[in-house]
Amino acid sequence: MAKMEVKTSLLDNMIGVGDMVLLEPLSEDSFINNLKKRFDHSEIYTYIGSVVVSINPYRSLPIYSPEKVEEYRNRNFYELSPHIFALSDEAYRSLRDQDKDQCILITGESGAGKTEASKLVMSYVAAVCGKGAEVNQVKEQLLQSNPVLEAFGNAKTVRNDNSSRFGKYMDIEFDFKGDPLGGVISNYLLEKSRVVKQPRGERNFHIFYQILSGASDDLLNKLKLERDFSRYNYLSLDSARVNGVDDAMNFRTVRNAMQIVGFMDHETQSILEVVAAVLKLGNIEFKPESRVNGLDESKIKDKNELKEICELTGIDQSVLERAFSFRTVEAKQEKVSTTLNVAQAYYARDALAKNLYSRLFSWLVTRINESIKAQTKVRKKVMGVLDIYGFEIFEDNSFEQFIINYCNEKLQQIFIELTLKEEQEEYIREDIEWTHIEYFNNAIICDLIENNQTGILAMLDEECLRPGTVTDDTFLEKLNQICATHQHFESRMSKCSRFLNDTSLPHSCFRIQHYAGKVMYQVEGFVDKNNDLLYRDLSQAMWKANHSLIKALFPEGNPAKINLKRPPTAGSQFKASVSTLMKNLQTKNPNYIRCIKPNDKKAAHIFNEALVCHQVRYLGLLENVRVRRAGYAFRQPYELCLERYKMLCKQTWPHWRGPARAGVEVLFNELEIPEEEYSFGRSKIFIRNPRTLFKLEDLRKQRLEDLATLIQKIYRGWKCRTHFLLMKRSQIVIASWYRRYAQQKKYQRIKSSAIVVQSYIRGWKARKLLRELKHQKRCKEAATTIAAYWHGTQARRELRRLKEEARNKHAIAVVWAYWLGYKVRREYRKFFRANAGRKIYEFTLQKIMQKYFLEMKNKMPSLSPIDKNWPARPYLFLDSTHKELKRIFHLWRCKKYRDQFTDQQKLVYEEKLEASELFKDKKALYPASVGQPFQGAYLEISKNPKYKRLKDAVEEKIIIAEVVNKINRANGKCASRIFLLTKNNVLLADQKSGHIKSEVPLGDVTKVSMSSQNDGFFAVHLKEGSGAAGKGDFLFSSDHLIEMATKLYRTTLSQTKQKLSIEISDEFLVQFRQDKVCVKFIQGNQKNGNIPTCKRKNNRLLEVAVP
Ligand SMILES: Nc1ncnc2c1ncn2[C@@H]1O[C@H](COP(=O)(O)OP(=O)(O)OP(=O)(O)O)[C@@H](O)[C@H]1O
Ligand SMILES: [Mg+2]
Repeated sequence: MAKMEVKTSLLDNMIGVGDMVLLEPLSEDSFINNLKKRFDHSEIYTYIGSVVVSINPYRSLPIYSPEKVEEYRNRNFYELSPHIFALSDEAYRSLRDQDKDQCILITGESGAGKTEASKLVMSYVAAVCGKGAEVNQVKEQLLQSNPVLEAFGNAKTVRNDNSSRFGKYMDIEFDFKGDPLGGVISNYLLEKSRVVKQPRGERNFHIFYQILSGASDDLLNKLKLERDFSRYNYLSLDSARVNGVDDAMNFRTVRNAMQIVGFMDHETQSILEVVAAVLKLGNIEFKPESRVNGLDESKIKDKNELKEICELTGIDQSVLERAFSFRTVEAKQEKVSTTLNVAQAYYARDALAKNLYSRLFSWLVTRINESIKAQTKVRKKVMGVLDIYGFEIFEDNSFEQFIINYCNEKLQQIFIELTLKEEQEEYIREDIEWTHIEYFNNAIICDLIENNQTGILAMLDEECLRPGTVTDDTFLEKLNQICATHQHFESRMSKCSRFLNDTSLPHSCFRIQHYAGKVMYQVEGFVDKNNDLLYRDLSQAMWKANHSLIKALFPEGNPAKINLKRPPTAGSQFKASVSTLMKNLQTKNPNYIRCIKPNDKKAAHIFNEALVCHQVRYLGLLENVRVRRAGYAFRQPYELCLERYKMLCKQTWPHWRGPARAGVEVLFNELEIPEEEYSFGRSKIFIRNPRTLFKLEDLRKQRLEDLATLIQKIYRGWKCRTHFLLMKRSQIVIASWYRRYAQQKKYQRIKSSAIVVQSYIRGWKARKLLRELKHQKRCKEAATTIAAYWHGTQARRELRRLKEEARNKHAIAVVWAYWLGYKVRREYRKFFRANAGRKIYEFTLQKIMQKYFLEMKNKMPSLSPIDKNWPARPYLFLDSTHKELKRIFHLWRCKKYRDQFTDQQKLVYEEKLEASELFKDKKALYPASVGQPFQGAYLEISKNPKYKRLKDAVEEKIIIAEVVNKINRANGKCASRIFLLTKNNVLLADQKSGHIKSEVPLGDVTKVSMSSQNDGFFAVHLKEGSGAAGKGDFLFSSDHLIEMATKLYRTTLSQTKQKLSIEISDEFLVQFRQDKVCVKFIQGNQKNGNIPTCKRKNNRLLEVAVP
């Protein structure tokens, strides 16, 4: 559930308090408890205002995924739970959008997670800033510089398996859009003493182990190394392997990273050679040798290692050997050579190894800077990330700790300055009265260390430069003289008796009361380390090397550039670089990450309260909270405040229409919050006490619960009511259906009962009636039966009598016939012999024929030629006769019919005959035309006064006068025309006016074409070149096509003695002006019912759709 909630404030689902400013009451215990509570819930980040406190979880937490990056992207700082991404986002956005250079200051003790934090910041910024091939390469180079520097600058210590042994400040540069352009890395004070000696349980720098574990045999050969760690004096053996660290794989990662950053292969090779040389230097051992002059001298025990080093680095072996045995001191143009005893030889060897390595490291940083530097000269915005060693308090604190703590002191100073400044600026910006805040200013401690005259560093330098015997003790004495009265300086030797009795303070030590606590420094080694001496003979030997990288690392070895001035001391160098760094940081907007280490065991889930408490103290976190709370503990823009608490007041809930500030005023008045508890800024409300905020939060929580209950109540009520109403409606529907059903059933039952009763009664009545009727019928029947029996008896008696009579008569006839037959046979027996059968046959035939004709005479059909009746054939053998008779009869009656014709009728029939010859079985329209008489003049022109002019124009006899449809040649549309056929011409006239449109002499008509189908379309083809053929052939449609074609044919024949060609085809060509157009008849697809339609498809085709 909690995951799904959308967070809008860090106050939501807070574990403890997300911002220590809200801690109530504020005490060290409550502070630590809050950290612990949050740590136990995997909340490793907590805010103090805008400062992020981070506790190292020592385990990977799922809070750095790309989804988390998206979650924090473009969200306000206090909107989500505290996270390093929130700080990164804030810094990146104010860099990009407000053009403010940023710096991210990460502090904390060794192992607290500074380096990891710096990497998280960088990876977040890389994830949210611009994309694109070029930008991605820059990002990749910036990110990949980390593994390279870590390999050379980090080592396993008792506190941290990957402890940074150098300070690092990286400026990432962006263009105006916020896309990364490049970067600049500055490194501070590499702990080079580690190269030659490591405390128990610690290791040398990672790179040594990585080469030996990860390099191929071939590479190892080239570097003249062996894989066995135990072969090398400079490698501590007791902790050579670190749990969870795969040196071989890391070596591959480093080489890959070097490649990405832009190291050339030969450069990488040179670097590895230098590393190998350093490692091998440690194996050079010396033995004492007494010289004649009584001076101690040292000699190299086994020169083999020296030889290999020289081969590897291209140094002349004798030169190097000499440099390990003699020391040349130059003074006033005089060179004095002194021999080195064994201790001095070892010192020289180690100094060389340390110098080689630390210079290589600085060179690496310079080389990386060359690769990652911005390529363009445009104005850049800068985000600096400072990952510097934290405050260190060990049992034995030496020069390194002094330097480191000085750096932290400076950082604390700018932290105080900038935090206060920021706070003050915000108050001014918001127009809130500034209340003075008491805080400890550590400027005094900085002064104790860095003051140019009386500062500890200045005195150390002075001591180092002083002629005469200089030891650490003389230095301490000097300190005691000068600083004795300083509040923050403590020493046993001090003349001031304050510390004389403090036995916890040994005589060889001095103590400084740093802002973060008292630190006791062992004075031993201070002078030496500050001098950082490398015998000139060695640097010259190095410069002479035939190895470009080594040569470049020792420019002071060049005899031409010999410089008698002492090089700056380590202390003054560091002071200068810290001062530059501070100046740089002061120009930027600071963002703080304060890292805390939860335990000394590098273990997850363990929260050592004492350890944390110590860090909280020296990091000054409580002070930080106090400063932040001195004025107002909490502030929030009016809009956000109103949005968060508007439900607490009726006027502002659910919506406040006016300005947010007025809304907050109303809200606070309504809640009766005492006026001294808050102040109205320009854009923010300032709340003085966390109590007030928590009161608001509690009220809000309570109100939210009430609101939730209210919403729940209303929702539940609504849900139940809706459900109830639905049930009620459903119940009514079901009840009504059931009632209907029950009533129907009842009705059906009553109905069927009524029918049963009714039917019984009817049945009973019917049966009663039936019985009566049956009785009556039986009575009637009885009489009839009796009568019938009586009549029957009578009839049978009569029949018997008549039968007897008939039998008697028949018997007589039969006897008579037989008698006659017998007599005839006896009389005619003599004639019957030869041809009686034939005669009988012919006679019989004759008789039958006679009978046939006599019968036919009576059955003759009518004289109409179309009467199809004919009597049936009586005998089979008369079949052909019967048919012949039918044919003769038909011919005869046809003749009789024809004989009645007048001349006029004859002409008509001739025409019909002609039509039959022309069209029968050729044109589907023909059979329908047979029954229609040919009338010719359908249009009586003479009788219609409209056509008087037309009548006058035509002198000859009109054979056809009819209205036809003339098909427009262009589009296939119809227009009515009067079609006149005279003896010599075909005329076309307008139907309305009678005006003659065309006149074609019959001699010019060459052909008539039509389809074989049931349509009246026909084309009149004209002779090419004739006067009438100007527009081309005519296409008509007429109801009397057969008659018109026949008459045209006959008239042409009689006038020109030539047969007019009549083409019957479903596709024919006509000449329309210049075009030969195909007229095509298509059956079927008829939209207009039974009327044929005509359409000009294109200039080659005219389609006639016929039904
Ligand atoms: N946010 C984190 N999540 C998981 N593990 C972490 C986180 N921060 C630190 N660690 C673990 O703690 C170890 C030490 O962290 P880191 O190297 O950053 O410390 P440091 O403060 O830089 O110490 P030093 O001052 O020695 O360089 C890391 O190697 C890692 O294992
Ligand atoms: Mg680190």
